[in-house]
Amino acid sequence: SKSTSISIDGKSYIKDTWHNLSPSISSSISQRLHIQKDHPICITRSIIESRFPAPTYKYHNTFFPVVSTHQNFDSLGFPADHPGRSKTDTYYVNEKTVLRTHTSAHQADVFRANESEGFLISADVYRRDAIDRSHYPVFHQMEGARMWDRRKVPNGDIAAAVWKDVEALPKHEMKVEDPNPPTHPERNPLQEGHSLEEAEAIAAHLKRSLELMVVEIFSHAKKAAIASSPDYVDEPLKVRWIEAYFPFTSPSWELEIFWQGDWLEVLGCGVVKQDIMEKAGVPSQLGWAFGIGLERMAMLLFEIPDIRLFWSKDERFLSQFRGLSDNLEGLKRFVPFSKYPACYKDVAFWLRSTSSAAGGGQGGGQDIHENDIMEIVRDIGGDVVEDVIKVDEFTHPKTGRKSFCYRINYRSLERTLTNEEANEFHERVREALVEKLGVELR
Ligand code: PHE
Repeated sequence: SKSTSISIDGKSYIKDTWHNLSPSISSSISQRLHIQKDHPICITRSIIESRFPAPTYKYHNTFFPVVSTHQNFDSLGFPADHPGRSKTDTYYVNEKTVLRTHTSAHQADVFRANESEGFLISADVYRRDAIDRSHYPVFHQMEGARMWDRRKVPNGDIAAAVWKDVEALPKHEMKVEDPNPPTHPERNPLQEGHSLEEAEAIAAHLKRSLELMVVEIFSHAKKAAIASSPDYVDEPLKVRWIEAYFPFTSPSWELEIFWQGDWLEVLGCGVVKQDIMEKAGVPSQLGWAFGIGLERMAMLLFEIPDIRLFWSKDERFLSQFRGLSDNLEGLKRFVPFSKYPACYKDVAFWLRSTSSAAGGGQGGGQDIHENDIMEIVRDIGGDVVEDVIKVDEFTHPKTGRKSFCYRINYRSLERTLTNEEANEFHERVREALVEKLGVELR
Protein backbone atom coordinates (compact mmCIF):
# COMPACT_ATOMS: atom_id res chain seq x y z
CA SER A 1 0.00 0.00 0.00
CA LYS A 2 3.05 2.30 0.17
CA SER A 3 3.58 2.33 -3.60
CA THR A 4 4.62 5.69 -5.00
CA SER A 5 2.24 5.84 -7.92
CA ILE A 6 -1.44 5.21 -8.50
CA SER A 7 -3.35 4.38 -11.62
CA ILE A 8 -6.72 6.06 -12.12
CA ASP A 9 -8.81 5.02 -15.08
CA GLY A 10 -5.68 3.99 -16.96
CA LYS A 11 -3.56 7.04 -16.15
CA SER A 12 -0.66 6.95 -13.75
CA TYR A 13 -0.02 9.59 -11.07
CA ILE A 14 2.81 10.07 -8.58
CA LYS A 15 1.63 9.98 -4.97
CA ASP A 16 3.05 12.30 -2.33
CA THR A 17 2.18 13.28 1.24
CA TRP A 18 -0.96 15.04 -0.03
CA HIS A 19 -2.44 11.80 -1.33
CA ASN A 20 -5.67 10.96 0.49
CA LEU A 21 -7.77 8.81 -1.86
CA SER A 22 -9.35 5.86 -0.12
CA PRO A 23 -10.05 2.51 -1.80
CA SER A 24 -13.82 3.09 -1.75
CA ILE A 25 -13.40 6.36 -3.63
CA SER A 26 -10.97 4.94 -6.14
CA SER A 27 -13.51 2.23 -6.98
CA SER A 28 -16.35 4.70 -7.68
CA ILE A 29 -14.28 6.57 -10.26
CA SER A 30 -15.29 5.81 -13.83
CA GLN A 31 -18.83 4.59 -13.10
CA ARG A 32 -20.23 7.72 -14.79
CA LEU A 33 -23.85 7.27 -13.80
CA HIS A 34 -24.75 10.36 -15.85
CA ILE A 35 -24.14 8.50 -19.10
CA GLN A 36 -25.54 5.10 -18.11
CA LYS A 37 -28.65 4.68 -20.20
CA ASP A 38 -31.86 4.43 -18.11
CA HIS A 39 -30.08 5.40 -14.90
CA PRO A 40 -32.11 8.09 -13.07
CA ILE A 41 -29.09 10.45 -13.07
CA CYS A 42 -28.81 10.04 -16.83
CA ILE A 43 -32.56 10.59 -17.32
CA THR A 44 -32.40 13.74 -15.18
CA ARG A 45 -29.46 15.01 -17.24
CA SER A 46 -31.32 14.55 -20.50
CA ILE A 47 -34.45 16.32 -19.22
CA ILE A 48 -32.32 19.32 -18.20
CA GLU A 49 -30.46 19.22 -21.52
CA SER A 50 -33.77 19.45 -23.37
CA ARG A 51 -34.10 23.04 -22.08
CA PHE A 52 -30.62 23.95 -23.37
CA PRO A 53 -30.72 22.68 -26.94
CA ALA A 54 -27.82 21.96 -29.31
CA PRO A 55 -26.23 23.47 -31.29
CA THR A 56 -26.50 26.67 -29.21
CA TYR A 57 -25.34 24.57 -26.26
CA LYS A 58 -22.58 22.05 -26.81
CA TYR A 59 -22.65 19.01 -24.49
CA HIS A 60 -19.56 17.61 -22.77
CA ASN A 61 -20.18 14.41 -20.85
CA THR A 62 -16.85 12.62 -20.65
CA PHE A 63 -14.32 15.01 -19.12
CA PHE A 64 -11.73 13.17 -17.03
CA PRO A 65 -12.26 13.42 -13.22
CA VAL A 66 -8.63 14.09 -12.32
CA VAL A 67 -7.75 17.78 -12.71
CA SER A 68 -5.01 20.14 -11.58
CA THR A 69 -5.41 22.39 -8.55
CA HIS A 70 -5.07 25.18 -11.10
CA GLN A 71 -8.17 24.02 -12.96
CA ASN A 72 -10.22 23.28 -9.86
CA PHE A 73 -9.27 26.38 -7.83
CA ASP A 74 -6.80 28.94 -9.26
CA SER A 75 -8.41 29.36 -12.68
CA LEU A 76 -11.63 30.28 -10.85
CA GLY A 77 -10.06 32.82 -8.54
CA PHE A 78 -10.18 30.78 -5.31
CA PRO A 79 -7.81 32.43 -2.80
CA ALA A 80 -4.83 30.39 -1.55
CA ASP A 81 -6.39 29.97 1.90
CA HIS A 82 -9.89 28.99 0.76
CA PRO A 83 -11.24 26.19 2.99
CA GLY A 84 -12.35 24.19 -0.05
CA ARG A 85 -8.67 23.54 -0.79
CA SER A 86 -8.13 21.73 2.48
CA LYS A 87 -7.18 18.05 2.57
CA THR A 88 -10.13 17.42 4.84
CA ASP A 89 -12.58 18.59 2.16
CA THR A 90 -10.93 17.60 -1.11
CA TYR A 91 -9.49 14.36 -2.47
CA TYR A 92 -5.88 14.95 -3.47
CA VAL A 93 -4.04 12.60 -5.83
CA ASN A 94 -0.93 14.65 -5.06
CA GLU A 95 -0.08 18.24 -4.17
CA LYS A 96 -0.97 19.62 -7.60
CA THR A 97 -3.69 17.15 -8.63
CA VAL A 98 -7.19 16.52 -7.28
CA LEU A 99 -10.44 14.75 -8.06
CA ARG A 100 -12.55 17.67 -9.29
CA THR A 101 -14.81 19.02 -6.54
CA HIS A 102 -17.13 20.69 -9.06
CA THR A 103 -17.74 20.85 -12.79
CA SER A 104 -16.60 24.49 -12.73
CA ALA A 105 -13.07 23.02 -12.91
CA HIS A 106 -13.61 22.80 -16.69
CA GLN A 107 -15.12 26.26 -17.24
CA ALA A 108 -11.97 28.11 -18.25
CA ASP A 109 -10.86 25.35 -20.66
CA VAL A 110 -14.22 25.30 -22.43
CA PHE A 111 -14.36 29.10 -22.61
CA ARG A 112 -10.88 29.00 -24.16
CA ALA A 113 -11.91 26.38 -26.75
CA ASN A 114 -14.69 28.81 -27.77
CA GLU A 115 -16.58 26.26 -29.87
CA SER A 116 -20.17 27.37 -29.25
CA GLU A 117 -22.36 30.08 -27.76
CA GLY A 118 -23.11 27.91 -24.77
CA PHE A 119 -22.22 24.60 -23.16
CA LEU A 120 -23.30 21.98 -20.65
CA ILE A 121 -20.75 19.85 -18.80
CA SER A 122 -22.07 16.85 -16.86
CA ALA A 123 -19.67 14.89 -14.70
CA ASP A 124 -18.96 13.05 -11.47
CA VAL A 125 -17.52 15.26 -8.71
CA TYR A 126 -15.86 14.34 -5.41
CA ARG A 127 -16.01 15.87 -1.94
CA ARG A 128 -15.05 14.57 1.48
CA ASP A 129 -18.17 15.06 3.54
CA ALA A 130 -20.47 13.78 6.28
CA ILE A 131 -22.47 10.58 5.82
CA ASP A 132 -26.26 10.87 5.65
CA ARG A 133 -29.16 10.21 3.30
CA SER A 134 -28.49 13.21 1.07
CA HIS A 135 -24.66 13.31 1.09
CA TYR A 136 -22.32 10.97 -0.69
CA PRO A 137 -18.63 11.63 -1.44
CA VAL A 138 -19.23 11.16 -5.17
CA PHE A 139 -22.08 12.93 -6.89
CA HIS A 140 -22.89 14.42 -10.27
CA GLN A 141 -23.12 18.02 -11.37
CA MET A 142 -24.05 19.82 -14.52
CA GLU A 143 -22.33 23.08 -15.42
CA GLY A 144 -24.06 25.34 -17.90
CA ALA A 145 -22.93 28.56 -19.54
CA ARG A 146 -24.08 30.97 -22.23
CA MET A 147 -21.90 33.67 -23.80
CA TRP A 148 -22.42 36.67 -26.06
CA ASP A 149 -19.54 38.10 -28.07
CA ARG A 150 -19.26 41.88 -28.43
CA ARG A 151 -17.78 41.40 -31.90
CA LYS A 152 -20.71 39.26 -33.04
CA VAL A 153 -23.71 41.25 -31.81
CA PRO A 154 -25.01 44.38 -33.62
CA ASN A 155 -23.04 47.49 -32.55
CA GLY A 156 -21.34 45.44 -29.83
CA ASP A 157 -24.49 46.09 -27.79
CA ILE A 158 -24.58 43.02 -25.52
CA ALA A 159 -27.55 44.20 -23.46
CA ALA A 160 -29.77 44.59 -26.53
CA ALA A 161 -28.67 41.25 -27.96
CA VAL A 162 -29.37 39.45 -24.68
CA TRP A 163 -32.82 41.04 -24.27
CA LYS A 164 -33.65 39.80 -27.76
CA ASP A 165 -32.78 36.29 -26.64
CA VAL A 166 -34.79 36.72 -23.42
CA GLU A 167 -37.83 37.69 -25.52
CA ALA A 168 -37.44 34.48 -27.49
CA LEU A 169 -37.61 32.29 -24.36
CA PRO A 170 -41.05 30.94 -23.44
CA LYS A 171 -42.95 32.42 -20.49
CA HIS A 172 -44.08 30.29 -17.56
CA GLU A 173 -46.61 30.41 -14.75
CA MET A 174 -44.45 29.20 -11.86
CA LYS A 175 -44.43 31.38 -8.76
CA VAL A 176 -40.99 33.00 -8.38
CA GLU A 177 -39.80 35.04 -5.41
CA ASP A 178 -36.95 37.36 -6.31
CA PRO A 179 -36.94 40.11 -3.67
CA ASN A 180 -33.48 41.60 -4.33
CA PRO A 181 -32.34 44.01 -7.03
CA PRO A 182 -30.12 42.39 -9.72
CA THR A 183 -27.03 43.96 -8.17
CA HIS A 184 -26.18 45.36 -4.77
CA PRO A 185 -23.01 47.38 -4.08
CA GLU A 186 -21.96 45.31 -1.04
CA ARG A 187 -23.87 42.06 -1.17
CA ASN A 188 -23.86 41.34 -4.89
CA PRO A 189 -21.73 43.82 -6.80
CA LEU A 190 -21.81 44.73 -10.44
CA GLN A 191 -18.44 43.91 -12.02
CA GLU A 192 -16.07 46.61 -13.07
CA GLY A 193 -16.31 46.76 -16.85
CA HIS A 194 -19.96 45.65 -17.02
CA SER A 195 -22.75 48.18 -17.39
CA LEU A 196 -25.84 47.78 -15.23
CA GLU A 197 -27.86 47.20 -18.44
CA GLU A 198 -25.58 44.32 -19.41
CA ALA A 199 -25.68 42.68 -15.99
CA GLU A 200 -29.47 43.02 -15.80
CA ALA A 201 -30.00 41.53 -19.23
CA ILE A 202 -27.65 38.60 -18.57
CA ALA A 203 -29.27 38.01 -15.16
CA ALA A 204 -32.75 38.00 -16.73
CA HIS A 205 -31.69 35.46 -19.35
CA LEU A 206 -30.00 33.30 -16.72
CA LYS A 207 -32.94 33.32 -14.33
CA ARG A 208 -35.60 32.70 -16.96
CA SER A 209 -33.57 29.85 -18.48
CA LEU A 210 -33.18 28.15 -15.12
CA GLU A 211 -36.80 28.70 -14.11
CA LEU A 212 -37.84 27.00 -17.37
CA MET A 213 -35.53 24.12 -16.50
CA VAL A 214 -37.25 23.70 -13.11
CA VAL A 215 -40.69 23.89 -14.76
CA GLU A 216 -39.58 21.15 -17.15
CA ILE A 217 -38.32 18.85 -14.38
CA PHE A 218 -41.49 19.34 -12.37
CA SER A 219 -43.79 18.78 -15.32
CA HIS A 220 -42.15 15.33 -15.54
CA ALA A 221 -42.29 14.88 -11.77
CA LYS A 222 -46.00 15.65 -11.83
CA LYS A 223 -46.66 13.18 -14.64
CA ALA A 224 -44.72 10.56 -12.67
CA ALA A 225 -46.71 11.31 -9.53
CA ILE A 226 -50.05 11.06 -11.34
CA ALA A 227 -49.04 7.81 -13.02
CA SER A 228 -48.21 6.42 -9.58
CA SER A 229 -51.26 7.70 -7.71
CA PRO A 230 -54.16 8.94 -9.84
CA ASP A 231 -55.73 10.87 -6.95
CA TYR A 232 -52.55 12.90 -6.49
CA VAL A 233 -53.16 16.61 -5.82
CA ASP A 234 -50.28 18.83 -6.82
CA GLU A 235 -49.15 21.82 -4.82
CA PRO A 236 -48.34 24.92 -6.84
CA LEU A 237 -44.61 25.04 -7.47
CA LYS A 238 -42.67 27.80 -5.68
CA VAL A 239 -39.04 28.83 -6.15
CA ARG A 240 -36.94 31.72 -4.87
CA TRP A 241 -33.72 33.47 -5.83
CA ILE A 242 -31.21 34.12 -3.02
CA GLU A 243 -28.13 36.32 -3.24
CA ALA A 244 -24.94 34.25 -3.13
CA TYR A 245 -21.19 34.44 -3.46
CA PHE A 246 -18.82 32.49 -5.71
CA PRO A 247 -15.24 33.57 -6.47
CA PHE A 248 -15.89 33.27 -10.22
CA THR A 249 -19.24 35.04 -10.72
CA SER A 250 -20.68 38.43 -9.77
CA PRO A 251 -23.48 39.08 -9.16
CA SER A 252 -24.34 35.53 -7.99
CA TRP A 253 -27.44 33.63 -6.86
CA GLU A 254 -28.72 30.36 -5.55
CA LEU A 255 -32.06 28.91 -6.52
CA GLU A 256 -34.20 27.24 -3.88
CA ILE A 257 -37.29 25.11 -4.49
CA PHE A 258 -40.08 24.74 -1.95
CA TRP A 259 -40.47 20.99 -1.54
CA GLN A 260 -42.23 18.96 1.11
CA GLY A 261 -42.41 21.92 3.47
CA ASP A 262 -38.77 23.10 3.15
CA TRP A 263 -36.68 25.36 0.96
CA LEU A 264 -34.14 23.20 -0.84
CA GLU A 265 -31.04 24.68 -2.47
CA VAL A 266 -30.55 23.17 -5.92
CA LEU A 267 -28.09 25.31 -7.85
CA GLY A 268 -25.58 28.16 -7.83
CA CYS A 269 -25.11 30.62 -10.67
CA GLY A 270 -24.10 34.11 -11.72
CA VAL A 271 -22.58 36.49 -14.26
CA VAL A 272 -19.12 35.14 -15.17
CA LYS A 273 -16.25 37.30 -13.96
CA GLN A 274 -14.67 39.06 -16.91
CA ASP A 275 -11.25 38.18 -15.59
CA ILE A 276 -11.95 34.50 -16.36
CA MET A 277 -12.90 35.31 -19.95
CA GLU A 278 -9.77 37.45 -20.30
CA LYS A 279 -7.46 34.74 -18.96
CA ALA A 280 -9.18 32.24 -21.25
CA GLY A 281 -8.28 34.41 -24.24
CA VAL A 282 -11.87 35.45 -25.02
CA PRO A 283 -12.06 38.98 -23.57
CA SER A 284 -14.92 40.07 -25.83
CA GLN A 285 -17.31 37.45 -24.42
CA LEU A 286 -19.79 38.15 -21.62
CA GLY A 287 -22.11 35.60 -20.13
CA TRP A 288 -23.59 33.55 -17.33
CA ALA A 289 -22.83 30.16 -15.72
CA PHE A 290 -24.63 27.80 -13.38
CA GLY A 291 -23.86 24.55 -11.55
CA ILE A 292 -26.60 22.12 -10.50
CA GLY A 293 -26.54 18.90 -8.47
CA LEU A 294 -28.08 16.06 -10.46
CA GLU A 295 -28.76 13.73 -7.50
CA ARG A 296 -30.86 16.39 -5.79
CA MET A 297 -32.91 16.96 -8.93
CA ALA A 298 -33.30 13.21 -9.50
CA MET A 299 -34.44 12.78 -5.88
CA LEU A 300 -37.13 15.43 -6.49
CA LEU A 301 -38.11 14.02 -9.85
CA PHE A 302 -38.57 10.39 -8.79
CA GLU A 303 -38.93 10.83 -5.02
CA ILE A 304 -35.85 8.72 -4.38
CA PRO A 305 -35.34 8.81 -0.60
CA ASP A 306 -31.68 7.87 -0.15
CA ILE A 307 -28.64 8.96 -2.16
CA ARG A 308 -26.95 5.55 -1.82
CA LEU A 309 -29.67 4.08 -4.03
CA PHE A 310 -28.08 5.72 -7.09
CA TRP A 311 -25.14 3.37 -6.66
CA SER A 312 -27.30 0.28 -6.24
CA LYS A 313 -26.87 -2.62 -8.64
CA ASP A 314 -30.05 -4.17 -7.26
CA GLU A 315 -32.61 -5.09 -9.91
CA ARG A 316 -35.40 -3.81 -7.67
CA PHE A 317 -33.86 -0.35 -8.15
CA LEU A 318 -32.57 -0.47 -11.74
CA SER A 319 -35.62 -2.20 -13.24
CA GLN A 320 -37.86 0.70 -12.22
CA PHE A 321 -36.14 2.99 -14.74
CA ARG A 322 -35.58 0.59 -17.61
CA GLY A 323 -36.72 1.92 -20.99
CA LEU A 324 -37.28 5.45 -19.71
CA SER A 325 -34.36 7.08 -21.54
CA ASP A 326 -36.26 6.46 -24.77
CA ASN A 327 -39.71 7.01 -23.32
CA LEU A 328 -39.94 9.88 -20.85
CA GLU A 329 -43.74 9.62 -21.06
CA GLY A 330 -43.46 6.39 -19.12
CA LEU A 331 -41.93 8.10 -16.07
CA LYS A 332 -43.16 6.76 -12.73
CA ARG A 333 -42.23 7.55 -9.17
CA PHE A 334 -39.74 5.30 -7.52
CA VAL A 335 -41.43 2.69 -5.32
CA PRO A 336 -39.19 2.08 -2.30
CA PHE A 337 -38.48 -1.51 -1.46
CA SER A 338 -39.11 -2.16 2.18
CA LYS A 339 -36.61 -0.67 4.58
CA TYR A 340 -34.52 -3.23 6.40
CA PRO A 341 -33.95 -2.73 10.11
CA ALA A 342 -31.38 -0.25 11.36
CA CYS A 343 -28.57 -1.42 13.60
CA TYR A 344 -27.02 1.31 15.75
CA LYS A 345 -23.55 0.91 17.25
CA ASP A 346 -21.68 3.49 19.29
CA VAL A 347 -17.94 4.02 19.44
CA ALA A 348 -16.40 6.26 22.11
CA PHE A 349 -12.77 7.25 22.28
CA TRP A 350 -10.20 9.63 23.74
CA LEU A 351 -8.03 11.71 21.47
CA ARG A 352 -4.30 11.53 22.03
CA SER A 353 -3.32 13.80 24.90
CA THR A 354 -1.58 17.13 24.38
CA SER A 355 1.56 16.30 26.28
CA SER A 356 2.47 13.24 24.22
CA ALA A 357 5.29 13.90 21.81
CA ALA A 358 3.41 12.05 19.10
CA GLY A 359 0.41 14.34 19.52
CA GLY A 360 1.49 16.88 16.97
CA GLY A 361 -1.52 19.15 17.46
CA GLN A 362 -1.32 22.94 17.47
CA GLY A 363 -1.25 23.32 21.23
CA GLY A 364 -4.83 22.23 21.82
CA GLY A 365 -4.33 18.49 21.76
CA GLN A 366 -4.78 16.21 18.79
CA ASP A 367 -6.77 17.71 15.95
CA ILE A 368 -8.89 15.38 13.94
CA HIS A 369 -11.37 16.35 11.31
CA GLU A 370 -14.76 14.69 11.32
CA ASN A 371 -14.40 13.90 7.62
CA ASP A 372 -11.44 11.65 8.49
CA ILE A 373 -13.73 9.60 10.73
CA MET A 374 -16.38 9.48 8.00
CA GLU A 375 -13.81 8.23 5.54
CA ILE A 376 -12.64 5.43 7.83
CA VAL A 377 -16.21 4.29 8.45
CA ARG A 378 -17.06 4.46 4.77
CA ASP A 379 -13.99 2.49 3.80
CA ILE A 380 -14.98 -0.36 6.04
CA GLY A 381 -18.78 -0.29 5.91
CA GLY A 382 -19.25 1.09 2.40
CA ASP A 383 -22.90 1.55 1.48
CA VAL A 384 -23.98 -0.47 4.50
CA VAL A 385 -23.55 2.69 6.58
CA GLU A 386 -26.64 4.92 6.42
CA ASP A 387 -25.41 7.69 8.68
CA VAL A 388 -22.84 8.63 11.29
CA ILE A 389 -23.58 11.20 13.96
CA LYS A 390 -21.66 12.59 16.91
CA VAL A 391 -23.76 11.87 20.00
CA ASP A 392 -21.39 13.07 22.70
CA GLU A 393 -18.35 15.24 23.21
CA PHE A 394 -16.57 15.68 26.51
CA THR A 395 -13.42 17.38 27.81
CA HIS A 396 -11.92 15.93 30.97
CA PRO A 397 -11.90 18.76 33.56
CA LYS A 398 -8.48 17.82 34.98
CA THR A 399 -6.47 16.44 32.08
CA GLY A 400 -8.11 18.53 29.34
CA ARG A 401 -8.29 15.40 27.20
CA LYS A 402 -11.11 15.22 24.70
CA SER A 403 -13.49 12.33 24.22
CA PHE A 404 -16.04 11.74 21.47
CA CYS A 405 -18.83 9.31 20.93
CA TYR A 406 -20.15 8.55 17.44
CA ARG A 407 -23.26 6.55 16.61
CA ILE A 408 -23.09 4.55 13.40
CA ASN A 409 -26.25 3.28 11.76
CA TYR A 410 -25.55 0.07 9.86
CA ARG A 411 -28.42 -0.62 7.48
CA SER A 412 -28.27 -2.23 4.07
CA LEU A 413 -30.62 -1.02 1.36
CA GLU A 414 -30.79 -4.52 0.01
CA ARG A 415 -31.10 -6.98 2.88
CA THR A 416 -31.35 -7.42 6.62
CA LEU A 417 -27.94 -7.33 8.29
CA THR A 418 -27.44 -9.75 11.12
CA ASN A 419 -26.20 -8.36 14.39
CA GLU A 420 -23.04 -10.44 13.92
CA GLU A 421 -22.34 -8.79 10.58
CA ALA A 422 -22.86 -5.34 12.05
CA ASN A 423 -20.60 -6.25 14.96
CA GLU A 424 -17.94 -7.40 12.57
CA PHE A 425 -18.02 -4.08 10.66
CA HIS A 426 -18.03 -2.20 13.93
CA GLU A 427 -15.07 -4.08 15.34
CA ARG A 428 -13.09 -3.24 12.22
CA VAL A 429 -14.09 0.42 12.48
CA ARG A 430 -12.86 0.48 16.09
CA GLU A 431 -9.54 -1.05 15.10
CA ALA A 432 -9.10 1.34 12.18
CA LEU A 433 -9.77 4.38 14.38
CA VAL A 434 -6.96 3.27 16.66
CA GLU A 435 -4.62 2.40 13.85
CA LYS A 436 -5.23 5.44 11.63
CA LEU A 437 -6.01 8.19 14.13
CA GLY A 438 -4.24 6.85 17.20
CA VAL A 439 -7.27 7.30 19.42
CA GLU A 440 -7.77 5.42 22.68
CA LEU A 441 -11.04 3.48 22.78
CA ARG A 442 -13.19 3.85 25.88
N1 PHE B 1 -19.39 25.29 -8.81
C1 PHE B 1 -20.35 25.86 -7.88
C2 PHE B 1 -20.57 24.83 -6.75
O1 PHE B 1 -20.28 23.66 -6.91
C3 PHE B 1 -21.68 26.17 -8.53
C4 PHE B 1 -21.59 27.28 -9.57
C5 PHE B 1 -21.35 27.00 -10.91
C6 PHE B 1 -21.79 28.60 -9.20
C7 PHE B 1 -21.29 28.02 -11.86
C8 PHE B 1 -21.73 29.63 -10.12
C9 PHE B 1 -21.49 29.33 -11.46
O2 PHE B 1 -21.05 25.17 -5.67
